[in-house]
Amino acid sequence: MGALTTDWLPAFKAVPRELFVPDVVWPGQAAGTGQEDSVDRRTDPDGWRRAVYADVSLTTQWDDGEHSGAGKGRVPTCSNSQPSMVFSMLAALDVEPESRVLEVGTGTGWNAALLSQRLGSSNVVTVEVDADNAATARARLGAAGYSPMAVVGDGAEGWKPSAPYDRVLITASLRRIPRAIVDQVRPGGIIVSPYATEYGGEGVVRLTVREDGSASGPFVGSSAFMRLRQQRTQRKHVREYLGGKPWPADGVRSVTSTSPDDVGDWLPMFAIGLQTAGVFPWAEEYDDGSYTLWLRDTAVTSWATVDYEPGAAEYEVYQSGPRNLWEEVRAAHRWWDGQGRPGFERFGLTVTADGQASAWLDAPEHPVPSVG
Ligand SMILES: C[S@@+](CC[C@H](N)C(=O)[O-])C[C@H]1O[C@@H](n2cnc3c(N)ncnc32)[C@H](O)[C@@H]1O
Repeated sequence: MGALTTDWLPAFKAVPRELFVPDVVWPGQAAGTGQEDSVDRRTDPDGWRRAVYADVSLTTQWDDGEHSGAGKGRVPTCSNSQPSMVFSMLAALDVEPESRVLEVGTGTGWNAALLSQRLGSSNVVTVEVDADNAATARARLGAAGYSPMAVVGDGAEGWKPSAPYDRVLITASLRRIPRAIVDQVRPGGIIVSPYATEYGGEGVVRLTVREDGSASGPFVGSSAFMRLRQQRTQRKHVREYLGGKPWPADGVRSVTSTSPDDVGDWLPMFAIGLQTAGVFPWAEEYDDGSYTLWLRDTAVTSWATVDYEPGAAEYEVYQSGPRNLWEEVRAAHRWWDGQGRPGFERFGLTVTADGQASAWLDAPEHPVPSVG
């Protein structure tokens, strides 16, 4: 596992992952972001151990705990994260002896245990929004011999009573960097967090907090975390966009030579999401390999569809509303393509003292443009 740096090796050895994994888990798929069927330690101890010692995430909760049983729920809401992701984020956190760390998203408690092993429990505070997850994690941490301050609360507020912190590790993805968190980090301190765009695509950002209260830094890789509970988007059904009429309703027809396939991978999605405001995609797939890419805006003013046909050179487009969403997405893709298709590590983010976040390419002086 290349992500495991030598300074984290002793903690990795001292804190076995299995102490923080419940009996029933849904292992992440090796390719993609979905989950396999559940594995139950009581009926399949070998399968369970294989899952625990594989480099995959292990979903431990669905639908904020409302789902029960061995089947899958609708949305995974807690997991023991993929080990290579855990250790690459810990490496990015760049802790020093005695660093005081706030973790947001206690989850199963594994990360809090690793931090406690390395820094001492008294230097670790961990916040979890879900009271059941927090109680289970606290019990597991205690049984393993660790006693970080583990509190129930909205981690977007940080945890002020124990501030300031030298480091903050966020293990649920953000679309906005909460001002409260930046304010609770001392100048020179570091925040490591998954940052997701509305369009999709997500990367881990490493922000350094400055004296003036701003924070800035590069992305260090891609990620696929579950969203911070308070930052999930409520999405309206397609019919709300069509105004009660059958598709294509009042959509204006055109054709495009850009394939919807070109804008569907994690990295271009991320680059498009940094440039567009409130646009999100959904693919309606058909049995013959064709699909319709739907684009909608969160304000429910505009929609677009692009019909993908395997092997085609041109694709039919319909757009409706004040925003031409396909043109926006195309323009954003064209910019990314024109920059030489930069990877996650060439992007960065600055959060100003008044809370505005802006993305940049290579250096803060080169802002990522906005389209639309
Ligand atoms: C991927 S899991 C965290 C993995 C964890 N660090 C571990 O070691 O197992 C994400 C967790 O974030 C929690 N979460 C979501 N929104 C939150 C919020 N606003 N404040 C604190 N925790 C939150 C979820 O309930 C879930 O337990």
